[in-house]
Amino acid sequence: MSYTDKMLRDDALKGKVIVVTGGGSGLGKAMTKYFLELGAQVAITSRDIDKLKNTASELEAATGGTCLPLQCDVRHYEEVENMLQSVLKAFGKVDVLLNNAAGNFISPTERLSANAFDTVIDIVLKGTKNCTLAFGKHWIDSKQTSSTVLNIVTTYAWTGSAYVVPSATAKAGVLAMTRSLAVEWAKYGIRTNAIAPGPFPTKGAWDRLMPGDLAEKFDMAKKVPLQRVGDHQELANLAAYMVSDFSAYINGEVVVIDGGEWLKGAGQFNMLEAIPEELWDQLEMMIKAKKNK
Ligand code: HXC
Ligand code: NAP
Repeated sequence: MSYTDKMLRDDALKGKVIVVTGGGSGLGKAMTKYFLELGAQVAITSRDIDKLKNTASELEAATGGTCLPLQCDVRHYEEVENMLQSVLKAFGKVDVLLNNAAGNFISPTERLSANAFDTVIDIVLKGTKNCTLAFGKHWIDSKQTSSTVLNIVTTYAWTGSAYVVPSATAKAGVLAMTRSLAVEWAKYGIRTNAIAPGPFPTKGAWDRLMPGDLAEKFDMAKKVPLQRVGDHQELANLAAYMVSDFSAYINGEVVVIDGGEWLKGAGQFNMLEAIPEELWDQLEMMIKAKKNK
């Protein structure tokens, strides 16, 4: 067995209807593919309908599943409401909302226009709010007894991060929303959880976060104690578990999948990793020699 293998049994998501925002590319596409393989019907949404149609055809051909492409800019509540109605019309119900759509780019904060800052906040925080509110209202009004919201955040939702301040601000808001609604909406049978991925290379993220030769200059794998970046299938395995009934008692959780990356940056003495083995004898002697002096 390997982390690139598929984890759940074939029918794990049979009968489920799942909406993946930003499902036409990157991690959203990888998670959608696995959901289809596990028997779910999946609607993928984003701004670019041609991209969505191509992805849906590709994934239907690869999996034999049903994938519905729907144009929807998550920044606009009416578009989200229309998207929800289209999903209900096509599938009769919806069980899972995966808030995966995002916008992000690196920049010193003082270089950002007010509109640039707003653009990221609007996609990530307001977009997640729009989808969650519309789907939550529907589930509560229709008295559906079991549904799930899964939000994709990242570890700088709680550490913060320089040079991606709008994204960090927005993801922190999404994390607060996750934990708040996990309590408030549990009585309606709605579970709310999040996944915080570390580096999982995708074109969308790397074009905006590691442009030019930055990817070579700052090898993301070197920041990770496990010395590698993530594989899309291992994220898809986790997401499939989190939206399946196997995780029915998990609510309000944020699951980190980053090979230990954020903790490596956080631990005060983690820099001692650089000390060679042979030096530890000398250091031990120096410390012991100071005892009671
Ligand atoms: C400064 C910038 C900029 C940049 C855009 N802007 N790029 N400012 N530096 N590099 C400014 C523009 O000048 C404009 O402000 C405002 O931002 C909006 O830009 P538009 O291009 O008009 O917006 P839009 O077409 O809506 O595109 C949104 C976008 C774009 C976020 C700017 O990058 C996008 O479509 N992204 C979607 C996909 C994505 O970002 N994927 C990566 C997610 S990765 P003015 O004032 O000029 O009007 C991720 C990883 C997290 O989240 C963790 C990693 C470990
Ligand atoms: P990606 O391929 O660029 O995915 C982002 C998606 O969001 C795109 O499909 C994009 O589609 C969609 N989107 C952007 N603006 C939208 C809007 N206004 N309305 C609807 N959809 C919109 O990048 P990714 O790496 O797969 O990122 C997926 C998620 O993982 C994001 O939440 C990101 O923050 C998170 N994440 C990624 C990493 C990583 O290392 N890759 C690490 C941590 C967290 P359109 O352009 O067609 O609209």
